[in-house]
Amino acid sequence: MKIYLIFSLASLARVALPSVLQQPLSGELSAETDSTKTSLDRIIVSSPLLSFHRDIVRISSISDHERNVGEFVLDFLSAHNFTVEKQIVQSESESQDERFNIYAYIGENRHPDILLTSHIDTVPPFIPYSLHAPAGKGSKFHRADLLIAGRGTVDAKGSVAAIVFAALETLNEAPDASIGLLFDVGEENSGAGMKHFSDSDLNPSPASFHTIIFGEPTELSLVAGHKGTFGFKVIAEGKAAHSGYPWLGKSAISSILPVLSLLDTLEDVPPEQGGLLRSDVLGNSTLNIGVVNGGVAGNVVPAHVEASVKVRLAAGNPSNTEDIVKKAVKNFTTDSGVSVVFERGSSPQLFDTDVGGFNVITVNYGTDAASLKIHDREDRKVRRYLYGPGSIHVAHGDDEAITVGELEEAVQGYKRLISAAL
Ligand SMILES: *[C@@H]1O[C@H](CO)[C@@H](O)[C@H](O)[C@H]1NC(C)=O
Ligand SMILES: *[C@@H]1O[C@H](CO)[C@@H](O)[C@H](O)[C@H]1NC(C)=O
Ligand SMILES: *[C@@H]1O[C@H](CO)[C@@H](O)[C@H](O)[C@H]1NC(C)=O
Ligand SMILES: [Zn+2]
Repeated sequence: MKIYLIFSLASLARVALPSVLQQPLSGELSAETDSTKTSLDRIIVSSPLLSFHRDIVRISSISDHERNVGEFVLDFLSAHNFTVEKQIVQSESESQDERFNIYAYIGENRHPDILLTSHIDTVPPFIPYSLHAPAGKGSKFHRADLLIAGRGTVDAKGSVAAIVFAALETLNEAPDASIGLLFDVGEENSGAGMKHFSDSDLNPSPASFHTIIFGEPTELSLVAGHKGTFGFKVIAEGKAAHSGYPWLGKSAISSILPVLSLLDTLEDVPPEQGGLLRSDVLGNSTLNIGVVNGGVAGNVVPAHVEASVKVRLAAGNPSNTEDIVKKAVKNFTTDSGVSVVFERGSSPQLFDTDVGGFNVITVNYGTDAASLKIHDREDRKVRRYLYGPGSIHVAHGDDEAITVGELEEAVQGYKRLISAAL
């Protein structure tokens, strides 16, 4: 149920509101009058969901520095009658900060049927929380259109807040609902938090939960699948020489060029002719040569070059993609100076979409789902859903923002997914 309240700010018109309310997202909020700011704040303060979302966005939690937001979420869940466990996760940098996953359930029900999960870390840099009336709407706007900006508003604190309130509302209506929450760290880095959870006694074999719902920005659609990732480096070694006497050396860049131009089109080569794999659900695998580093000066024959390549996998897995790349490179060069070094990757992920009333999409980004090993029971396959508020298109950008309407609708969306699974 959506109720759109029209906020009439006519009473404040004397302070020249229309221009102030058309504040673009990138605009300076200091231009606003106090009374405008107060009227926007009031919308947030009057809602426990929006207030909780504001509180966790205001706490910076760039990957590997999630402790403060973790403590806040943990206290909030304890105060709301959840049993909460901290899962300490090893730091991935020099930072000595403690960091932990939060695992929450009701009473002694440590192995609930339904698990809802999202991540509490964000990408850098921290961007402060701010409120913005929708642009171009004059002095009247729908409460639902109020825009909330700042790092993590979308990815993934929007999902975290909506999941918490969907769980609270569900438990309020059905106190015996067997649900648990997992808020993990390090998703934006390496999936360290989810990998830790995956290997822990909270993820037994066979699985104790029959449904898991992942929260990430999906624009309120159910996601049918997302691509996997696979990275490698192509390295060429040559021999340095004066550029006036190139025959005295060997150009590493000349060696790598034909290989890179082949790789650059590998997504267009049909799979049966050695190209990257494709799928009906996720389309083509794509390949990006993201960094090329080599040479020292224009007048020196380059002795070394390396290129970093990332593949977004629509089908197959890292291991058969490794074979495809190896064969393609071997096909195209007999140069013994060229080598390929493969990195770890993840397979494409497919999700369930059998709950009605949702739009269904696919996305090209990776999630924690790839880091959680699901131990299906022979007679029961664990159902996995991917759903959440906000758009991935702004998620890692300077203009990361979400509307009040999306956050509130996501609470209802999660509740529908939970009740379908109960
Ligand atoms: C808190 O949870 C316990 C079970 O662990 C339950 O007996 C009690 O009624 C709950 N209290 C509230 C306020 O929900
Ligand atoms: C996949 O790649 C082929 C070959 O380049 C192209 O014809 C086709 O349109 C692509 N499909 C999608 C879904 O992008
Ligand atoms: C590699 O060479 C074989 C045989 O010449 C050819 O059939 C295949 O298409 C080539 N693969 C690529 C990716 O160019
Ligand atoms: Zn995310």
